[in-house]
Amino acid sequence: MRSIKTLYFQGIIQIMKILAIETSCDETSAAVVVGESIHAPIFVLSNVIISSLELHIKTGGVVPEVAAREQQIAIIPVIKEALAKANISPAELDAIAVAYGPGLVGSLLVGVETAKAMSLAWKKPLLAVNHLLGHVFSNWITKNNPPTFPALGMVVSGGHTDLVMFSSPTNYAWIGGTRDDAAGECFDKCARLILNAPYPGGPIISREARLVSNHPKPFLPRPMLHDGTLEMSFSGLKTAVLNLSKSPNYSSLNSKRLLAFDLERAIVDVLLKKITTALLLHNPMCLLVGGGVVANEVFREKLSILANEYNLPLFYPDLSLCGDNAAMIGAAAFMTHNHVNPLELVVNPGLAF
Ligand code: KG4
Ligand code: ZN
Repeated sequence: MRSIKTLYFQGIIQIMKILAIETSCDETSAAVVVGESIHAPIFVLSNVIISSLELHIKTGGVVPEVAAREQQIAIIPVIKEALAKANISPAELDAIAVAYGPGLVGSLLVGVETAKAMSLAWKKPLLAVNHLLGHVFSNWITKNNPPTFPALGMVVSGGHTDLVMFSSPTNYAWIGGTRDDAAGECFDKCARLILNAPYPGGPIISREARLVSNHPKPFLPRPMLHDGTLEMSFSGLKTAVLNLSKSPNYSSLNSKRLLAFDLERAIVDVLLKKITTALLLHNPMCLLVGGGVVANEVFREKLSILANEYNLPLFYPDLSLCGDNAAMIGAAAFMTHNHVNPLELVVNPGLAF
């Protein structure tokens, strides 16, 4: 039997309708996407996302067991809703796609085991997707021309900060990233330190930073800014914030806002500098960013200025597609066609690029 990948690359299968599932952290999401060609935009017919986030507020972070239990309850209704909104029956689908890692093992299992069962019951090919590729290929969900290769991709999320060079959808190499905390993790931990804010802290840091009218000179460290490498480190920045937040000088709301302001600028400075270094080293045709932190307005603005300077097409997903969602998993499934045997697919919580 020729695989779906072979049929696709031989041009026998063109339009594909994919039901995609994403359950790697606290979200339960299902989407129906339609892909035509890797050179054309991918359309989203439905993208249902529910989150158990409010159940984790008291604990200050996602509790894996609680997240998985909620996903277990939500997964079937969410899939049904995605199919209903797309006005499509299972028989009309060309494939089922699922994120099999990285993420929380219990959460991933809910999505993966459901996708395997549906693939077998409905006799549809199963496409396994690396969640991180989902963030990159979310950029094919666009109203304009999609990106071209070679492309520099950057994923900036709560768990990852990675730079990856793509010469094609399936041929890519990790070229740099953080050696400790991810940028989103730094936002989250510092938001807790500065403002006692619950997860996710990034939007709260951003909101408080925006209220600062007298912009301070940079006072927090920008780790590894000038070392010329593509490596990053955010744990020292977190320690600097920890020390300052304990000092009486940072007890007023105004001074906390200054800390939030410079933290946001420090993280964005490092991300921008490393992207610039990667552009100069690898000469991509376009720049693709994705992940929860890409919702950050300062980052988006500064990225646009940088891309203009280098005359480089810049792609970042719509705000609704920056966080975890199944539409991006469907897009990545279409782009990579990683056809697997449903009886053999296992979750991979530590999956990397
Ligand atoms: O991609 P994502 O939804 O989940 C992971 O795969 O990790 O990213 C979540 C991360 C959190 O760390 C959250 O604080 C951060 O994205 N985030 C932001 C903003 N919105 C979400 N960080 C900075 N500014 C934002 N506006
Ligand atoms: Zn993610």
